[in-house]
Amino acid sequence: MQDAPLEKIPVALPDTYRLLNPGLVVLVTVGDRETDNLLAVTWNMPIRKDPGMVALLLGKRHHSYPFVERTGELGISIPDASLADAVLGCGSVSGRKVPDKFARFGLTRQPATRIKAPLVSECIANLECRVCQVVDLGASALVLSQVLAAVADPRHVKKGHYVFDDGLRLLHHLSGKRFCASSEAITAQVPRR
Ligand SMILES: Cc1cc2nc3c(=O)[nH]c(=O)nc-3n(C[C@H](O)[C@H](O)[C@H](O)COP(=O)(O)O)c2cc1C
Repeated sequence: MQDAPLEKIPVALPDTYRLLNPGLVVLVTVGDRETDNLLAVTWNMPIRKDPGMVALLLGKRHHSYPFVERTGELGISIPDASLADAVLGCGSVSGRKVPDKFARFGLTRQPATRIKAPLVSECIANLECRVCQVVDLGASALVLSQVLAAVADPRHVKKGHYVFDDGLRLLHHLSGKRFCASSEAITAQVPRR
């Protein structure tokens, strides 16, 4: 167990999101049969288990957003740490300026089974989602989607759990260009009295 710090230091309130940030960063894909795009999304979380539902916070000015409105679908691909540069690229450049971000950042389209948008082949897992509710937050929207289908790399996901014995390094976003990687599962025990 870590030693308790002598005295904790204040954190500026606009920085507090960073303390919660390091969930998994994902690549969200959008598109129809003619055109597609993808972007990095850190602000994501599961909100229901069965049927699976996911919430994503999406900026409404992003090139990707009108695709979500129009198609009501999106893909979520989960990169490992080896894809950090590509993730940063997809999250730094708009599809308005770079029409094919897949090609620009060395990513391959993987056809989906239930949605028209492609998935990202290099990622360790891919979810196909249908939007069920959008909460308008002004400049951004909280997009709630149901998971329709999911696949994962069997080296790194066994019976629906991440396993780390084949060198998996999950990718978490801290802020800006800073990420961290996790590569170990720990099993906790409820302390005995
Ligand atoms: C690591 C990372 C995480 C990001 N997370 C989010 C997010 O949670 N929600 C969001 O709307 N934008 C997020 N962004 C910003 C978009 O990915 C970025 O503006 C992207 O270029 C938009 O692409 P588009 O205009 O092609 O849709 C993130 C960017 C980076 C680099």
